[in-house]
Amino acid sequence: MIKTPKESLTVLTDIVLPGETNPLGNLFGGELLARMDRACSIAAQRHSHRIVVTASVNHVAFNKAVPVGSVVSIEAKVSRAFNSSMEVYVDVWIEDRESQERTKVNEGIYTFVAVDHTGMPIKVPAIKPETALEKERFDGALRRKQLSLILSGKMKASEATELKALFV
Ligand SMILES: CC(C)(COP(=O)(O)OP(=O)(O)OC[C@H]1O[C@@H](n2cnc3c(N)ncnc32)[C@H](O)[C@@H]1OP(=O)(O)O)[C@@H](O)C(=O)NCCC(=O)NCCS
Repeated sequence: MIKTPKESLTVLTDIVLPGETNPLGNLFGGELLARMDRACSIAAQRHSHRIVVTASVNHVAFNKAVPVGSVVSIEAKVSRAFNSSMEVYVDVWIEDRESQERTKVNEGIYTFVAVDHTGMPIKVPAIKPETALEKERFDGALRRKQLSLILSGKMKASEATELKALFV
């Protein structure tokens, strides 16, 4: 079975309350990470139809502060499926109250692994990207997986074919 990224699309929309902010009145980073993790986990579950666990957070960019009262939309989609693991890309937007114009404030890249009821990794369906952005993210995912495995000590740099190809 081959699925598409849009089948896993998950959008969580919520408001920022005062208790979730730092002393500057902006959304606390850990709170945003938790919301991103939740959205990504649902996207990975929608792709795999399995129990999923967070294996790694490969990248998070806190580009813009998110003020109290903001309406935040967290949009997660599986960008590539490997054997048991899936890369999930998450984009975070806020919207202007009056114009409803959207501004992208953050993004993140997570890796989830589908597991059986004993916690053992289990195969997930393949994925076929459709849009130009989905194709770009799909193409870069193996490189990011190898980098994540090197950083976690699970792969030797000499085995990272995709990363080596960048430098030849
Ligand atoms: C994630 C977990 C299932 C991986 O188990 P493991 O014994 O390393 O299993 P494997 O080596 O077979 O790896 C499974 C897949 O995860 C991938 N993977 C493991 N660690 C990874 C990492 N740091 N970055 C990217 N991918 C990773 C492997 O490449 C493999 O992918 P593939 O099957 O698509 O090729 C296991 O480490 C675990 O259960 N961790 C705890 C998860 C958890 O509780 N998360 C919540 C944290 S609060």
